[in-house]
Amino acid sequence: MARHLITSALPYINGIKHLGNMVGSMLPADVYSRYLRQRGHDVLYICATDEHGTPAELAAKEQGIPVDTFCAQAHDAQKAVYDGFALSFDYFGRSSSPENVEITQHFARKLHENGFIEERSIRQVYSPTDGRFLPDRYVEGTCPHCGYDKARGDQCENCTRVLDPTDLIDPRSAISGATDLEVRETKHLFLLQSKLQHEVEEWVARHERHWPHLASSIARKWLTEGLHDRAITRDLDWGVPVPADTWPELAAEGKVFYVWFDAPIEYIGATKEWSDQDPENRDWKSWWYDADDAVRYTEFMAKDNVPFHTVMFPATQLGVREPWKKVDYVKAFNWLTYYGGKFSTSQKRGVFTDQALDILPADYWRYFLIANAPESDDSSFTWEHFTATVNKDLADTLGNFVNRVLSFSKKRFGEEVPDGGTPGEPEAKLGEEIARLLAEYEEHMEALQFRKAAAALRALWSAGNSYLEEKAPWLEIKTDKDGAALTLRTAMNLIHLYAVVSEPFIPATAARMRAAFALPDDTASWVTPDEAKSLTAVPTGTPFTVPPVLFAKLTDEDLETYKERFGGTEG
Ligand code: MF3
Ligand code: ZN
Repeated sequence: MARHLITSALPYINGIKHLGNMVGSMLPADVYSRYLRQRGHDVLYICATDEHGTPAELAAKEQGIPVDTFCAQAHDAQKAVYDGFALSFDYFGRSSSPENVEITQHFARKLHENGFIEERSIRQVYSPTDGRFLPDRYVEGTCPHCGYDKARGDQCENCTRVLDPTDLIDPRSAISGATDLEVRETKHLFLLQSKLQHEVEEWVARHERHWPHLASSIARKWLTEGLHDRAITRDLDWGVPVPADTWPELAAEGKVFYVWFDAPIEYIGATKEWSDQDPENRDWKSWWYDADDAVRYTEFMAKDNVPFHTVMFPATQLGVREPWKKVDYVKAFNWLTYYGGKFSTSQKRGVFTDQALDILPADYWRYFLIANAPESDDSSFTWEHFTATVNKDLADTLGNFVNRVLSFSKKRFGEEVPDGGTPGEPEAKLGEEIARLLAEYEEHMEALQFRKAAAALRALWSAGNSYLEEKAPWLEIKTDKDGAALTLRTAMNLIHLYAVVSEPFIPATAARMRAAFALPDDTASWVTPDEAKSLTAVPTGTPFTVPPVLFAKLTDEDLETYKERFGGTEG
């Protein structure tokens, strides 16, 4: 048994996330956490809302409510959706928590003590009309490199060059459109990442060979470009305050840390939130401090988050000069597209997680998304693909198998698992096949290869169908009643096995399948390939019930309705 710390990139507080966000961080982390828990490991799965920064301030202002009220509501709204998706967080925290304030300030003090923070005066864009300094991305103008006229002050979307807002030609406020912008002198704290470059390089070199290519290649690219010192404070109202004991002047001016500085620290902060709820029994520090060999830490994220997790946050952790746990494995995802185009929160294109749950229960989405996760490449969501997958894999291969077997057995043998005597050649062959596929499934799960794991799971479901077709108990029963009983008993054992091994993907359905059998002390624990081989977990005489249809088949009419409702299919 090992201790596994698992985090998924913290969803930003604004707005309900779309399916692309879900599949690129939280859902695979949940599948992995569930799998490891079933295998008996000690798992701590942590996530939180990432709450600071200008977008939250502006959204609150638009709604005319205080920003902390806005965040509290938005946090609850997101949490409700994640509950709907059956995400099994051990804790879902908030980066605005007192715990995160405390740890973020501690990190900053230590970085300062160790000579990695410096106060510098910079010239920043100030908008008198808006009454505030404008964060880089809220200054818009024409890109000096390519001439694109909607370039943001942090980066040009068109040519992807990183910009400084003062580079922009004809700059304007993205908040109000005001053009009377001034450049004012203001002091900020800078994290001297350049001083940490060498150490981060060494650290990455020691770890990257264990990471998937997507993560290590992005980390390499950033290191090759060189780590630059970066401002880690902002002139905002909403954020972790700069501690007055260390920087009295900046604190008096109301400076707060930049959201990207405190957000990753919230992985630790949220663990402390979790611990503070039950301090007798939970020890947050044992997961994070001096835990190098004791804990295995896996992070899940979309590829745009990789630089922060493989380079910037480790640089911060290294500079603190305390033994904070660093990531062991970085699982990164490409993009899920909507008909080949971008899911877009701002343009309301694609399917949002709350809408998805309005349409169908979570298990439909969980299975489809993981089976088609953008692992080695981007993958595309289409309603055609979604309905076809649901119908084929979930309704036909799994759902129909379960209902067919249980209803037929009930009709012919009553409400207990029938006997049928000693297994024969076909059962032995099936057992071998099941053991082989289960070993394959485990191997892919251990390697965090989710699409392959889903394929192996599907193959396990198919093996049951092939066996059933081959034995055809509905014919067998006419000539060999015991033979038919054996077939059904074996198939029922498959159903129970499916309940166990499908749990990480489709937890609600797995629970219904498991509950079909009145087995005493049926726990969620795993079945090894060797144990699975004999197909005897559900003995003769076990009472069972026939659950209602597990997965509804989606019709052409459903498909048309979805396409009409969500549109945006022109790519
Ligand atoms: N909120 C960020 C995003 O949506 C992710 C933050 S991950 C963290 O891209 F590590 F910084 F917390
Ligand atoms: Zn450009």
